[in-house]
Amino acid sequence: MRRVPLGIAIAILLVACGGNKQEQTTAGADSVGIALAQYAPALFDSISWPDDSAAVNRGSVVWTFSCKRCHGETGAGDGHFVQQVKDADGKLVADTLAPPSMLTPGWTYGTDKVALLKYIYTGSGQQPMPHWGISGLKPRDIDAVAVYIQKVVVAPKPDSTKAR
Ligand code: HEC
Repeated sequence: MRRVPLGIAIAILLVACGGNKQEQTTAGADSVGIALAQYAPALFDSISWPDDSAAVNRGSVVWTFSCKRCHGETGAGDGHFVQQVKDADGKLVADTLAPPSMLTPGWTYGTDKVALLKYIYTGSGQQPMPHWGISGLKPRDIDAVAVYIQKVVVAPKPDSTKAR
């Protein structure tokens, strides 16, 4: 095994843990407009994977680093990410995000891949879901995490008693 320098290991840990600082990537209505203007379904046309497991493997890394802190390990929306929100007077009001669960039966984005890719790319502008297409993820990684969500996160688990 190669040794990872301590500084880099700490940096990776900080990224992985998310921290409780306000995200630079937080979506605002304006930036969602920019993301929407840049979004085109064709961005994903040329992406291909040797097989599903290659996409799933990559997607699992993206999920761990970029999604899990808010959406939770299983997609239940229980990442308990602390988002610092300021009120109208500029006073800091700490809040904890609770994104909707991806595990609800019939969840739209569980089967509609085009809609899922677009949502991840642009965010919604309503709340703090980042618009990944213009803030940090390449189309290939957005595609990978979409495959991961649809093949792993929402897939029925063999052990249905597992934490959901
Ligand atoms: C900073 C916290 C945060 C991070 C990080 C984050 N999300 Fe979200 N996400 C949210 C919130 C909050 C919502 C619900 C509000 C909204 O629509 O903006 C949401 C909504 C979603 C939805 C729509 C859910 C629904 O049922 O409407 C999808 C799909 C999604 N996120 C995918 C992702 C993916 C994929 C990643 C990683 C690449 C990710 N999110 C990272 C906070 C986050």
